[in-house]
Amino acid sequence: MLSLSNKRVLLGITGGIAAYKCAELTRLLIKAGAEVRVAMTRSACEFITPLTLQALSGNRVHLDLLDPEAEAAMGHIELARWADLVLIAPATANSIARIAHGEADDILTTLVLATPAPIAVAPAMNQGMWADAQTQSNIAALQQRGYTLIGPDSGEQACGDVGLGRMSQPSDIVAACAQLFDTGFLAGRHVAITGGPTREAIDPVRYISNHSSGKMAYALAEEAAAAGARVTLISGPVSLSTPERVQRINVVSAQQMLEATLTAAEEADVFIGVAAVADYRPLEVAAEKIKKNDDEMSLTLVKNPDIIWEVSRLEKRPELVVGFAAETENVVANGQQKLASKKLDLLFANEATKTFNSDDVAITVIDANGTTALSAANKHVVARQMLQLIAARLS
Ligand code: C5P
Repeated sequence: MLSLSNKRVLLGITGGIAAYKCAELTRLLIKAGAEVRVAMTRSACEFITPLTLQALSGNRVHLDLLDPEAEAAMGHIELARWADLVLIAPATANSIARIAHGEADDILTTLVLATPAPIAVAPAMNQGMWADAQTQSNIAALQQRGYTLIGPDSGEQACGDVGLGRMSQPSDIVAACAQLFDTGFLAGRHVAITGGPTREAIDPVRYISNHSSGKMAYALAEEAAAAGARVTLISGPVSLSTPERVQRINVVSAQQMLEATLTAAEEADVFIGVAAVADYRPLEVAAEKIKKNDDEMSLTLVKNPDIIWEVSRLEKRPELVVGFAAETENVVANGQQKLASKKLDLLFANEATKTFNSDDVAITVIDANGTTALSAANKHVVARQMLQLIAARLS
């Protein structure tokens, strides 16, 4: 659900008949979780009293640039900095024109120039004034500057006209403001992901590895960042570029991946093990390149640490530990066995031969309650679906 929890909204009221709706608007902003401070133009005070808004917002209303008392409580520059959002509602044709031209001769226009916060404007005026070319050009200028336009709505007007120009309903204005802060379904979460293959050295020039491309892990990292998460991607050697806003830690061997993962997992809410970690590594790494003198040669391999299991049994375990299972047979049965033995919360199983290096993937989702299939699609599309399933399981 969208909310304005902990957000500071500076409501700027200008002088139109719709100003009477600001009592309801203030109440709804507060109900949505916002802290509200109000600045009004002199003409706004003809339509609604500052006292009403002071009572509803719980804060002194700012009316003048040069009001010593208001300035002593919070100066206008401080107020401009305080805001997470400046909402001008109703915004009259005159105030829109003055803002578009950068005027700063009253409290509201000054705040608009001074604030680093995003600005939303809810116009309210006669339909003819709204349709006027000058108003439309002023609105276009504000939108070009990145202001958010909320409304206006169409309908019957105070003057008797019918058309576009009514201020949007307070509930719609609050919803539009909340939308501005909706940074995604993983906002505030930290997701750690392993991806790609590992390489286990045989000698200085040879290694054991596998065909993992890293595409699934990189798609998950990119989509998690887009959904607002802080993302740490612990990556084996792959030829993919780092997605934006993703912290990538490069590793080569399983042992290196384990160390980097344990550090990241300690402070992650979600760990997703996508890496195709080599199950075994040579017991010894030859110091020099091995010569092909013999007809046969053998390597002694030792088991690598199971990284996801090490994360799963951490004392400070992430809230969700999510695994992958790339299988060539009995995909579901093997997946279920892995879910249980590694104590995972969720597992995505797929057919290895169809998936490695491919852009598409078909997934079976396995958890303690059973299995569901996600139909084959591009790894980015599937990654988004997976992250939504993960987010739904987070407390
Ligand atoms: O046991 P298997 O390798 O099939 O399990 C796959 C899952 O376990 C994947 O999530 C993979 O990233 C993880 N894994 C791991 N460390 C290993 C082997 C697998 O984290 N050594």
